[in-house]
Amino acid sequence: MADPIMSQATARAHSNIALIKYWGKRAGPRNLPAVGSISVTLDGLYTDTTVVFDRALSSDTAELDDKPADTARLTPFLDLVRARAGIETRASIVSTNNFPTGAGLASSASGFAALSLAATRAAGLDLEPRELSILARQGSGSAARSIFGGFAEMHRGVLDDGSDAFAEPMLDADDWPVEIVVAITDRATKSVNSSIGMMGLDERSDYYQAWVDHAETDLASMRDAIAARDFETVGALTEMSCLKLHGLMMSTRPGLIYWNPATVAAMLAIRTLRDEGTPVYFTIDAGPQVKALCAPGHGESVARALERVPGVLETRRTALGPAASVIA
Ligand code: DP6
Repeated sequence: MADPIMSQATARAHSNIALIKYWGKRAGPRNLPAVGSISVTLDGLYTDTTVVFDRALSSDTAELDDKPADTARLTPFLDLVRARAGIETRASIVSTNNFPTGAGLASSASGFAALSLAATRAAGLDLEPRELSILARQGSGSAARSIFGGFAEMHRGVLDDGSDAFAEPMLDADDWPVEIVVAITDRATKSVNSSIGMMGLDERSDYYQAWVDHAETDLASMRDAIAARDFETVGALTEMSCLKLHGLMMSTRPGLIYWNPATVAAMLAIRTLRDEGTPVYFTIDAGPQVKALCAPGHGESVARALERVPGVLETRRTALGPAASVIA
């Protein structure tokens, strides 16, 4: 496009939580996943990002939650957008999360999804969702899924250029209104971020090959269970993928332990609730927060129960959310 003096767009993307987890990258550039993944997008947790391409800027600038942010990971990403749009203009990025950043609540997922949409629109591009998903993946693997609402599946892909490593929608949020309760047990930024935690796993964990080898079976089982709206099977597969992931993390040299005592207490509380008849299952990402997957209508009672668990600081209850969208 012609390079205007200034152009801007604002996008909102919602965070997502994987039910079948992504962890590990195959060889090649920019977050080519070693395994596919399946996630739900969350209505209540989102990032709003404004991108302004401004010819008056000599370098990119970024602000996250009213504080200056490092552009080391952002400029190479904006370069992808600039190359595609045929512009060289630098940009300012202003982003806000409505939840704690970098604490295992998938802020990089909603962040890079919102940035992909805002930056491409501000640069005069109008990408199809699949192209947007491929772009978002290049910022953060899990961001590829936050382009879509409801249930989404991320494909591992096999091509070196990543053109088949994108997410696709499976069900809309309204198709199966399961609920998520997030139990926050620590608001601090996590010590080892996902990108570093999953680096070089074939050298660092004896369990990694088994993780990769079984991924396709887990994905196929989850696809079937979601298609059948079989909550118990979806829940059981979700807990299994979470525990397998954390087993892999713990087996990595040096061992990664993302849990704190309240994380474990919340996991056990969810199992007790289930034994007492509540349809609820847990999952945990690269941080200490516990996410409870609740059958439709059970979110409120699960939130009340988790609030009573020692060490749980607060809970957030949310429905499934929509696809990323341009809001200004
Ligand atoms: C545990 O997408 O944050 O949340 O691709 O290096 O940016 P990068 O990693 P990231 O990893 C997410 C890992 C996870 C599981 C998941 O969301 O599937």
